[in-house]
Amino acid sequence: MAYSDLMHWEAWLVLLGVAGMCAGAAASGAAADEINYDESKVPRYTLPDPLRLNDGSPVRDARTWREVRRPQIMQLFETYVYGRSPALPSTLHYEVFSDEVALGGLARRKQVRVALTAAADGPTMDVLIYLPADANGPVPLFFGLNFRGNQSVHTDPGIKISDRWMPEDAGCGIVDHRATEKSRGCSQADWSIEAALRRGYAVATVYCGDIDPDFDDGFQNGIHPYYYRTGQRRPAADQWGTIAAWAWGMRRAMDYFQRDHDIDARRVVVLGHSRLGKTALWAGAQDERFAIVISNNSGCGGAALSRRRFGETVRRINTAFPHWFCDNFKQFNDHEEQLPVDQHMLIALIAPRPVYVASAVEDRWADPRGEFLAARGADPVYRLLGTSGLPVDEMPPVNRPAMGTIGYHIRTGKHAMTAYDWEQYLTFADRHFGRADKAAH
Ligand code: GCU
Repeated sequence: MAYSDLMHWEAWLVLLGVAGMCAGAAASGAAADEINYDESKVPRYTLPDPLRLNDGSPVRDARTWREVRRPQIMQLFETYVYGRSPALPSTLHYEVFSDEVALGGLARRKQVRVALTAAADGPTMDVLIYLPADANGPVPLFFGLNFRGNQSVHTDPGIKISDRWMPEDAGCGIVDHRATEKSRGCSQADWSIEAALRRGYAVATVYCGDIDPDFDDGFQNGIHPYYYRTGQRRPAADQWGTIAAWAWGMRRAMDYFQRDHDIDARRVVVLGHSRLGKTALWAGAQDERFAIVISNNSGCGGAALSRRRFGETVRRINTAFPHWFCDNFKQFNDHEEQLPVDQHMLIALIAPRPVYVASAVEDRWADPRGEFLAARGADPVYRLLGTSGLPVDEMPPVNRPAMGTIGYHIRTGKHAMTAYDWEQYLTFADRHFGRADKAAH
């Protein structure tokens, strides 16, 4: 089974009606019939208006958006959805531990160990960077986290195999929670590294588990404990969960990119697939150093509107993955209508920077229509700020991308980040970085 299929095991369990057998689901008593795939059963809902202040008054100009409304929405997402993260440390220690020609001469491969906290001997993440070998100056960069270690993104034997904890995945060569040689390239289908390099982009990635391992460990093993107050044992209800920690780690990587002269740090595209797409959106929303933000099949808690309750719901995600969001988010299990935000407002936080939302036809768990409608719901903010927004009112046909300042496509196929997806993202970046003429197609 492909890795991307494995990631949707919960959806299959639900279809088989055995959701209650999952540890988390059993605790909540989540019933199989909770999952709706019928458009006619989507509840009626009213989305909160991104262009109305908390007191109900309208936002009519860019300045009020920027100075009042945007900070309000940011605070709502911090308090009720992802949780507040600590400020990034101002000092940064890093070590370039390899720098060589790779991929048959197409690339230069750099591997850099970056300290997450201010301390030189504290926790670290390993950043793998491929630069186009023929670059003559700083290049724009695509940056995303990966699920199974840097060595999983390519068969390149020069990539250091991660020695961190990973979810068990024998098919991908993860045995006893550690990566083996067999894991090299096991998720390479999600990474169009050569295509990006040929179009003049660098690609960088970090294993998400370097920042926080993806399991409910009571926040004892990842970055969280380094930021506890004396005596604190877990994040407070409005403090960062795992997605926020991953996003924080991505922002920390950006601290490094700004110091790397091979990278054009003003042209960094942050992207991610699925749970890491949720993460890319939250990183991009908070940190305006990311020039373009891309969400690939990010679904519930990512680009999809929570109020639609189509496919994965707030209750399901909080039950199966209790560590992803802040504890306050659990108040909205079965009460999406009470959320002071919905996910169109997350996309709006990225405005006026370009953002791309991508869905897949067979990825109903992630609610493709809900992903489109969230992109659509952010459009008024993009327009207020003088950009082209999303150029379509209705969902475009399959495999027909719509690209304005907001981009959207729904492609054929399953939950995955495919070569087709990458091709659209590269074209989108070319357009927004003014490289469309230079791009070799
Ligand atoms: C599960 C989860 C989704 C998530 C996905 C993934 O299916 O329910 O919310 O996006 O895993 O990360 O692949």
